[in-house]
Amino acid sequence: MKKLDVTLDRRRNDSYQIHIGEAILDWTATVLGRSGIARRCVVITDSAIDALHGERVHKALEKSGLRIDRIVLPSGEEAKTIDSVLIVAEKLIALGADRQSLLIALGGGVIGDLTGFTASLYMRGIPFVQMPTTLLAQVDSSIGGKTGVDAAGGKNMLGTFHQPWGVFIDTGFLKTLPDAIFRSGFAEAIKYGAIENPALLDDIAKAAAENSLRDSSFLERIIVESCRIKKTIVELDEREGGLRRILNFGHTVGHAIEAASGYKLSHGESVALGMNAATRISQKLYGLPAQDAEKITTAIRAVGLPGTIPVSLATDDILARLSMDKKAQHNVHKKEGKTVHFVMIRGLGKPFIQGGLPEKVIAETLEELKG
Ligand SMILES: NC(=O)c1ccc[n+]([C@@H]2O[C@H](COP(=O)([O-])OP(=O)(O)OC[C@H]3O[C@@H](n4cnc5c(N)ncnc54)[C@H](O)[C@@H]3O)[C@@H](O)[C@H]2O)c1
Repeated sequence: MKKLDVTLDRRRNDSYQIHIGEAILDWTATVLGRSGIARRCVVITDSAIDALHGERVHKALEKSGLRIDRIVLPSGEEAKTIDSVLIVAEKLIALGADRQSLLIALGGGVIGDLTGFTASLYMRGIPFVQMPTTLLAQVDSSIGGKTGVDAAGGKNMLGTFHQPWGVFIDTGFLKTLPDAIFRSGFAEAIKYGAIENPALLDDIAKAAAENSLRDSSFLERIIVESCRIKKTIVELDEREGGLRRILNFGHTVGHAIEAASGYKLSHGESVALGMNAATRISQKLYGLPAQDAEKITTAIRAVGLPGTIPVSLATDDILARLSMDKKAQHNVHKKEGKTVHFVMIRGLGKPFIQGGLPEKVIAETLEELKG
């Protein structure tokens, strides 16, 4: 098992550890039981995960002497709403959960974001732990303390920064993950390859070629490396004042594509398309070498993520949604008209924030990427 320390502002004492390994459930229970962090724990999960792992996790945690309850939400992005937060809060009140209680997010990014958000609000903030069960959550969303839910007007429009007390990444959970969801998670690992460590791209493309993407030592390696990169960036810029924005490589266009598809495309598929667009634009405008671009697109293709935008998605619709993205900042003084902030790369591992990109170039690139 590997451990990484996330060292944050010591005045707030919210530093924590990330534990990564296969079959670390008993270890998780022991750490929580011995920590004295809480008298009781409430596991928040979704119906699909609960059916597969709920009982086993419940029993393992109970053995550590903690009182355990479980709250089960419907599965999927549709459940990531303020209504679900209120349902969870009411159930917590009914259970008598107090400030000595700990929430445990057992699930993918949806459950992680929603549980963190609820924990940040319940009784003005209680601790929570991340037990991520999707690849996306294990390489990315369980770390860094961004929490939130979606609103009718957009994804993650309500949210807080609330760091977990600890992150326990058991790669064993990935064994039950359906293939499409599993593959989706590689988008964020590929992002880390593009913005920081190109070796990740080679490692992923090689594992795909050898048909060993589900190999546990490979998975542990890419999870550890992705977490190491993310936690280093979060340590330097916890609240996304600047540097942390490089983690949005592929996400600005990705979110717009995801919304334009009516959320039929997954987060990972959309981010893969967003990275394809960002890579092309970086080549056109900022001299990204062709061989670097090729490494990114090869890794995306190799894991089975899409390289082309469905023709049914109108470019104008994607552009309109781009300017609604909460990370977009307008620069109305540009001649070309409306511009948005983008994460671009000059080379692998060399990201930068571009505060003004001509809408014309984005539109042209989106058209080129149509299947
Ligand atoms: N907070 C952050 O920093 C951050 C970063 C990236 C993404 N996100 C968010 O993450 C969300 C996407 O997360 P996701 O892709 O994990 O989706 P998800 O949480 O909806 O999980 C996808 C599906 O997989 C199922 N599932 C989860 N674990 C399983 C397992 N082990 N076995 C079988 N089925 C399992 C779930 O029931 C669900 O149906 C988005 O809402 C996105 O905004 C947050």
